[in-house]
Amino acid sequence: MKLLILGGTKFLGRFLAEEALRRGHAVTLFHRGRTNPGLFPEAEEILGDRDGGVDALAGGAWDAVMDTSGYLPRVVAQSVERLRTAVPRYAFISSISVYPDFPYDGLDETYRVDSLPPEDADSEDVGRYYGALKARCEQVVQAAYGDGALVIRPGLIVGPHDPTDRFTYWPHRFAAGGEVLVPGRPERPVQFIDVRDLAAWTLDMVEAGEAGVYNATGPVPPVTMGTLVAACVEAAAARGVTAEPVWVDGGFLKEQAVGEWVEMPLWISEAAGWPGFMTVSVDRAVAKGLRFRPVMETVEDTLAWDAARPPEPLRAGMARDKEQAVLAAWTRSTGRRTRS
Ligand SMILES: NC(=O)c1ccc[n+]([C@@H]2O[C@H](COP(=O)([O-])OP(=O)(O)OC[C@H]3O[C@@H](n4cnc5c(N)ncnc54)[C@H](OP(=O)(O)O)[C@@H]3O)[C@@H](O)[C@H]2O)c1
Repeated sequence: MKLLILGGTKFLGRFLAEEALRRGHAVTLFHRGRTNPGLFPEAEEILGDRDGGVDALAGGAWDAVMDTSGYLPRVVAQSVERLRTAVPRYAFISSISVYPDFPYDGLDETYRVDSLPPEDADSEDVGRYYGALKARCEQVVQAAYGDGALVIRPGLIVGPHDPTDRFTYWPHRFAAGGEVLVPGRPERPVQFIDVRDLAAWTLDMVEAGEAGVYNATGPVPPVTMGTLVAACVEAAAARGVTAEPVWVDGGFLKEQAVGEWVEMPLWISEAAGWPGFMTVSVDRAVAKGLRFRPVMETVEDTLAWDAARPPEPLRAGMARDKEQAVLAAWTRSTGRRTRS
């Protein structure tokens, strides 16, 4: 197939491009040339800004476009308009953040999506309205492409080359050893998807000409924070490092002003009132072939990638001195004995 990726050089797009090339597709990458230009010499590269510069795609014809870099409806409308006659299928990478809340377990694709408040209806503040803007982007693609529109809503995407460090923090932290603060209870469910599983399945869907809306997170069968922590402990041990999780009550973390999700990755407190945030249904995607590699493999590969990159502060996770201070406070409050 001839495939166009709007993006394709950073994280999910990068693995889409890699896998598509591996499968023998002809791949064109459209991006500004700021992020890893020339990463795939086998791919055609067209440089341009998707905001105002999609005319660079004029004259091209592809079997499908995969849009990994759409955040603003106004900008997505430009690529949709430019491509609708030249490209019959449009796969838009959205997010489970389109849902305004997660009030119950097993929330599926029929749940309502967020929208911009009337007083801010034209806002392009992605930091503030990420989910609502993604939902609007979906609608722009669907309105133009109809049955040719594939909308994929990933949860937290993890693995090598993750630019956010929200998952990487955990293998990285355990590999540093010692007592590691871990939020909540071991049996708390967590959801994430390995970028390589997501890329392979997205391509399967595009190759099969599938359309519709799909949540895409995982894994299935479900994993808990305890499973993830055990994998991180094992990966550290394989490197000769001893690490010991210390499970700290979520309410206590709130009292200690520990931030959810970024400062303490993979954690949203129960007080947030989103009981279904980590139990989103992926039944539709699994029925269409979404599969998941073992958590251990994701942890190992993420750690190997993390260890090989130039050392710099992680973009997510707790500062070590704060972690130790919170652990000390937890010890004082519970009478827990520390390791000597
Ligand atoms: N990370 C998560 O956990 C998560 C969860 C759910 C959904 N998502 C969604 O998944 C997608 C992930 O994206 P990714 O960053 O991994 O994709 P990617 O395609 O690997 O990287 C982003 C690409 O977009 C290009 N780009 C950025 N701005 C551009 C512009 N104005 N014009 C043309 N090209 C532009 C960048 O290259 P240049 O800089 O060279 O232009 C880069 O190639 C996003 O849509 C995100 O909303 C992510």
